Amino acid sequence: MNDKEDNNAEKKPFTLFNNETGQSIEIPVLQGSEGPDVLDIRKLHEETGMFTYDPGFTSTASCESEITYIDGLKGILRHRGYDIQELASKSEFLEVCYLLLHGELPSIEDKNKFIDVISNHTMLHEQLVYLYRGFRRDAHPMAIMVGVVGALSAFYHDSTDFSDIKQRMVACHRLIAKIPTIGAMAYKYSVGQPFVYPRNDLSYTENFLYMTFSVPTEEFKISPNIVKAMDRFFILHADHEQNASTSTVRLAGSSGANPFACIAAGIASLWGPAHGGANEAVIKMLEEIGDIENIPMFINRAKDKNDPFRLMGFGHRVYKNYDPRAKVMKESAHDVLKEINNNNDPLLKIAIELEKIALQDPYFIDKKLYPNVDFYSGIILKALGFPTSMFTVLFAIGRTVGWISQWKEMIEDPINKIGRPRQLYKGKVSRNYQLEDNRDKKSIFNWLWKK
Ligand code: SDX
Repeated sequence: MNDKEDNNAEKKPFTLFNNETGQSIEIPVLQGSEGPDVLDIRKLHEETGMFTYDPGFTSTASCESEITYIDGLKGILRHRGYDIQELASKSEFLEVCYLLLHGELPSIEDKNKFIDVISNHTMLHEQLVYLYRGFRRDAHPMAIMVGVVGALSAFYHDSTDFSDIKQRMVACHRLIAKIPTIGAMAYKYSVGQPFVYPRNDLSYTENFLYMTFSVPTEEFKISPNIVKAMDRFFILHADHEQNASTSTVRLAGSSGANPFACIAAGIASLWGPAHGGANEAVIKMLEEIGDIENIPMFINRAKDKNDPFRLMGFGHRVYKNYDPRAKVMKESAHDVLKEINNNNDPLLKIAIELEKIALQDPYFIDKKLYPNVDFYSGIILKALGFPTSMFTVLFAIGRTVGWISQWKEMIEDPINKIGRPRQLYKGKVSRNYQLEDNRDKKSIFNWLWKK
């Protein structure tokens, strides 16, 4: 990473004045290549004895990065300066992987070499097959993903010393190459079908669909339009700045944990319904709505403060405009349904009507809640033949390149240090130990002990 410190010298500092003590301090203002300036508060505690307080990090920049830029108000998403709409329509996923990892679109020669390297890492160590057998057949595929990806560090010791650039790159290539194989095997295991080995003569995404849906009893055929839709799905999920799972990967990596363990931590974080688990939750919500006439009731529930129900696939921490990925996904949903001659998918009809009603409702307008990447993706995945339990696995397959690119950027950042946030302590102040006879006699946990 270039030394950005010098690029910020020209910004005037921000003066912070404490009305209580009369103290004022000057806080340097750092400027990015685009997006909001930041207050460099690294010396704040040393100079004031205070911390900042920002649960959920709504106003906190945790790092410098050159990979992805999001403008939530304008609905802009760029990877290394390229708009997501352009990449989704003109590029292919493996080329976007190269771009995220290395910062530039590859020459023809580099692209072919990169495809070769990835193809030659798609197989898993055969011992890992026994790890799958340790799971119940009905285990959630995300549980298997967390377990198997974490276990990779037990097999690939020769790429865990990431102070060596060669090992760093091998670990990146292994994770990008093996995550589709691991995901496909999780699916095969859940349906009781034999695992299918990868084939180097197929493209990355066709190979994934082959490992997932082919069976030994017949020749595998799949429409190029379906492969394109799957490849576009992976592009749309590749990276997204410092979201919860990416921040998890960075925090795990900041302690020096090996990249396989860090990606397993990212998969665990992605699983939550507020994050990558939303695509599975959207389909369940649309199925629960069941009919267009039920939409108003669900909209009212989403607006009811006393009802924990939220409109899954709606809202975003950063986008206060339409998620640009959702636009592409919506078009892709129409293409896929047309391709499989299912133009009357009831769930798509409900989704389109739900979006239309919600976007005219003052609650959603005032809170700037728009469809996000997960709102239409489930309709595509269901049409492609995936069970809902595989939806977040597919998100993880696309996002692995983003996680590992951000991990690599952090490792190579000269100012990288272990992440260690502080807190606002609201617990008991100092008190002396009480012997049992002096303690409160009533139990505060009898509700727990009750049979
Ligand atoms: C992803 O960060 C990323 O970049 C994530 C992601 C990526 O690519 O990595 O983009 C992928 O995770 C997309 C988001 C998928 N999640 C969902 O679709 C779940 C439903 N959405 C919400 O849970 C919510 O919108 C979040 C979690 C996505 C964002 O939550 P925030 O930023 O913490 O916002 P918030 O919860 O503070 O909501 C602000 C207000 C609240 O009302 P008030 O307390 O101000 O009265 O909007 C309301 C919320 O109650 N609100 C919703 C809502 N989302 C927010 N109300 C109803 N339905 C919703 N979906």
